[in-house]
Amino acid sequence: MCGIFGYVGKLDKAGEIVLSGLKKLEYRGYDSWGVAVKSETQNSILVKKKTGKINHATVEDLPKSTLALGHTRWATHGAVINENAHPHTDCTKRFAIVHNGIIENYQEIKKNLAQKHHFRSETDTEILLHLIEELAIKLPGSEAVRKAFTRARGLNAIVVLDALENKIYTAKTGSPIVLTVKGQNSYLASDSASLLAFSNELLFLNDGEMAILSSGKITLQNIADGKTLLPHFQKVDWKFEESEMGKYPHFMIKEIEEQPKILLNISANLAESAEKIAAFIKNKNVYFSGCGTAYFAALAGSYYLMSLAKKRSLAVYANEPILVKNLTDDDVLLALSQSGETIDLIETVKMVQAEGAKVVGVVNVLGSTLFRMANEKVLLGAGPEICVLATKSFTAKLGFLTLLSYALSGNLKVGQRLLAQAAEALDTIFSQKQKIKALAKKLVKKQHIFVIGRGLSYPMALESALKIKEVTYLHAEGFAAGELKHGVIALIEKGTPCVVLALNDENYESTIASAMELKARGGYIVGISPKNNEIFDDYLPTSDVGVATNILQIAWAQLLSYYMALELKLDPDKPRNLAKSVTVK
Ligand code: F6R
Repeated sequence: MCGIFGYVGKLDKAGEIVLSGLKKLEYRGYDSWGVAVKSETQNSILVKKKTGKINHATVEDLPKSTLALGHTRWATHGAVINENAHPHTDCTKRFAIVHNGIIENYQEIKKNLAQKHHFRSETDTEILLHLIEELAIKLPGSEAVRKAFTRARGLNAIVVLDALENKIYTAKTGSPIVLTVKGQNSYLASDSASLLAFSNELLFLNDGEMAILSSGKITLQNIADGKTLLPHFQKVDWKFEESEMGKYPHFMIKEIEEQPKILLNISANLAESAEKIAAFIKNKNVYFSGCGTAYFAALAGSYYLMSLAKKRSLAVYANEPILVKNLTDDDVLLALSQSGETIDLIETVKMVQAEGAKVVGVVNVLGSTLFRMANEKVLLGAGPEICVLATKSFTAKLGFLTLLSYALSGNLKVGQRLLAQAAEALDTIFSQKQKIKALAKKLVKKQHIFVIGRGLSYPMALESALKIKEVTYLHAEGFAAGELKHGVIALIEKGTPCVVLALNDENYESTIASAMELKARGGYIVGISPKNNEIFDDYLPTSDVGVATNILQIAWAQLLSYYMALELKLDPDKPRNLAKSVTVK
C-alpha cells in the first residue's frame, strides 16, 4: 500500500533522493504521489503532487534542499485527486505530513479545528496535521506530533517534516516504518528494500514508538510517555542488487527465475528450522493462516501435514478468523506472509496470542511486524519480492512446508532431496518458454479460464487461477476437480480453456475422469502433469518429484500468466488496483 520516503542530511538534493526512493516503492501500488521539500530561502515548504504514476516525472522544479518527504498514495479516504495526494501542509507551511492508515476518529478531532483552519483535502490525514499545528504553538515540534498522535485512533503511521526545526518525526501504531543513518544523512521509508542503497543496518520502528530524525542522527521515544528509548539497529542480509531488475524486462520474470536458487537455499539452510518447528508443533493442534496467495500456501500446508505426516490441521483466511477464536496454549498458529505486514493476519495473530496460543511466523521480510510478533520465526530467504504478484515467496513457503511435513514424519532428508530435484526440474521448465508463449497467445482470446485439481493439486488450482486473473484481468477460477458435477460444469462450453493439474498419485485417474467430463462439453484441456494423456489438447510436462511437483505446476501457471499479460500489453509488475502489502483493512 502507500509508500513513504524521507530524507534529512547534508546533501542538497533531498527532493531527488526522495523521488528516487518513491520509485523503489512503486511496486507497493498507488494512484497518486507527492514530494515536499523545505525551501531554504523562503523558510517554507514547497510541494509537488499529482495523480497517476511517477513514470518520468522529476522534481527539478522544486528548490534545492536538505530536507524532504514523499508519499505514494493508495486511496482510502477521499477520491484520487491532486488535493488528496500526500504530503499535506499546514496553514503556516511549517509542517508537511504523510500518512499510512486510517484515523478512525477524524471527525471528532476535526470538530475543534474546523473554525480556525483551512482544509484543502478530504483526507483524515490533514485533520491530524492541523492538530499538530495547533499544539506546536506552545510545544516543540516533536512534542506536538507525539501529543497529536496519541489522540488518533486506529492503526496508523505518520511522518511529519518540520521546516522550522529541520527535522522529521515519525510515529506509528501500525504500518511499517524503517530508518537508517549513513554518515550525516538520515533516511526513513515504509519498506526496507528502498533503504538498501544506503545501508543494510536498519532500525524497524515498533508500534507505540516515535523517532526523531535530524542530519545523521535518529533518536527514539515511547509515544505514550515521551521517554527516550535505545535504538536497536539490525543488519539485513538482502543486497541492493537483489531489488534491481538487472538484465530482466520485468521483476515478475526475474522472480520466477530465481526460484531454483531459493529452493536450493531452503533445502540446505531451513532444514534445522523445520526440525525445530516440527518439534514445537508436534503435540499441539495446528492452524494455518494467511491472505491471498499466502492463504493458498497455508491450505497447501494443511494438505502436506496430513498426507506426509498424518497430522490434522486447519487453514483459515486471516480475514475470516472465526475458526481460530478461543485458541489456548494447546494450539499453535502458523502465520504465513511474504511482507509480514498484512493487516488482517497481524490482527488474527494478536487475537490468538492474547488468548494464549503461540504463533510461528513464516515470513520473507526480516524486521516486519509479523516477524517481530511471532513466538517462533522462520525467515524464508527469498530476497526482495518487488512484483506485486507473489511468485517466489509462494514457492518458498511451499518449500518450507514440505520440509516441515517431512521433518514431522521423521524423513527430513527426503524433503530436502525433493526440493533440490524440483530446483533442477524448474530449469527444464524455463527452457520451454516457446511452448508457453504459444499457449498464452491462444488463451488471451478467451474470457473465462478454469483450473481444476484434486488433493494436493487443489490449492495449486486456486493459486494458478489467482495468478492469471491478477495479471491478465481475465476471469479465471480454480476448482476442486470433484466439485465439477456439483454445479461448475454448467460454465463449460465449446472452447472454454480448462487447465488440469494432475499429480502422478492416487488422484491421477479421477482427475483425468473429471477432465474427460470437461472435454465432453467442449472444454479445451491443458494438462500440467508428469504424465501425458491423450485427452490433453495442450500438455505442459513436469518431472515427478513427489509433493514438490506442486512447485513445478505453479511455475507453469506463473509463466502462463506472465506471457498472457505481455500478449495483452499489460504491466505484469503493477496490476491495476493491487497493492503489494495490504496494511489497511
Ligand atoms: C497475490 C498476492 C496477494 C498476497 C496477499 C498476502 O499474488 O500477492 O494475494 O499474497 O496480499 O500478502 P503477504 O504474503 O505479504 O501477507
